[in-house]
Amino acid sequence: MSKVLEVENLRVDIPVAGGVLHAVRGVSFSLEKGETLCIVGESGCGKSLTSLALMGLLPRAARRTADKLIFDGIDLQSASRRQMQTIRGDRLSMIFQEPMTSLNPAYTIGDQLMEAMLWHKRVSRAEARERAIFLLEKVGITGAAKRLGQYPHQLSGGLRQRVMIAMSLMCGPAVIIADEPTTALDVTIQAQILLLLSELQAEFGMGLVLITHDLGVVARIADRVLVMYAGQVVENGSARQVFGAPLHPYTRGLLRCMPIPGRTRPGERLGSIPGIVPSLIGEIRGCAFRDRCGHARSACADFDRLRHNETGHEWRCIMDEAESLSRADELEDV
Ligand SMILES: Nc1ncnc2c1ncn2[C@@H]1O[C@H](COP(=O)(O)OP(=O)(O)OP(=O)(O)O)[C@@H](O)[C@H]1O
Ligand code: SF4
Ligand SMILES: [Mg+2]
Repeated sequence: MSKVLEVENLRVDIPVAGGVLHAVRGVSFSLEKGETLCIVGESGCGKSLTSLALMGLLPRAARRTADKLIFDGIDLQSASRRQMQTIRGDRLSMIFQEPMTSLNPAYTIGDQLMEAMLWHKRVSRAEARERAIFLLEKVGITGAAKRLGQYPHQLSGGLRQRVMIAMSLMCGPAVIIADEPTTALDVTIQAQILLLLSELQAEFGMGLVLITHDLGVVARIADRVLVMYAGQVVENGSARQVFGAPLHPYTRGLLRCMPIPGRTRPGERLGSIPGIVPSLIGEIRGCAFRDRCGHARSACADFDRLRHNETGHEWRCIMDEAESLSRADELEDV
């Protein structure tokens, strides 16, 4: 397999009143062609800013640095604004949380679907229209040809999000980044849309970076899972490693907060992680999770590096693999 996305030591700093907010603190990961990577972690841990940094869509005040930021062989750090505009929506697309902010209320669904393709590809209107209908059918929208003439407000939230997915596929991207694409939707259709995204990802062979709080869906569709905490990666491994033998206490805490088919035992009490995420303003020394960790010891105040084992499973904890596994059930029942 070859890497379609390589991120090394990505940092995002935002000057705020009272100092600099270090929102993303040295994040590294890569994505193979056709792979699904899910990014999980509590609110405010830097998931969205990581994805916006890749797309070149950070808030104006934010500063981005990285040792490496390569997409499909292109160095995103040296890409001009114009090059980034060409890359976005063509080879690298993003699906946002709230379709109403991404869809223009003044234009029809058809015009908006076709726009990116007419801009990026040398195709006729008829060809773009044909692809739009094909993709609307793919995302499960019936009467696709008729829908092209409708405006966003004429569709339900679920249909709008399906349109957004179709739009992200128009140019045949190498990677789709989806940042909590379903949180604005009714809970009953959230998992359905995420599974649809996963099916399309497999059918079209794209890479998918999915940010979601739904660990049940992550367990079903992820090849790899990246767990973020306070702007850092605290665990990175295959879905089997992260769900089957999580090595970071924070990951174990997250897994206990949510029912996960195949993992949570019937009748098992769900937990919560006590305490709050530390402030990201100013430097954090040592393990950022230590105020909330049942295994914390004094040396954790100086420990801050990723360990890895021979299978490539990474975790940021003073406990080695054997200790972490042997203590997995201790002190974590909250
Ligand atoms: N424009 C901004 N100005 C200042 N701080 C910001 C800005 N955007 C995000 N932040 C801060 O950066 C940190 C990371 O934010 P981010 O949106 O990436 O979190 P997240 O993991 O996506 O959270 P959520 O799950 O709630 O979407 C948070 O502390 C947030 O308050
Ligand atoms: S380094 Fe220490 S405080 Fe941090 S997760 Fe590991 S045991 Fe807990
Ligand atoms: Mg977010």
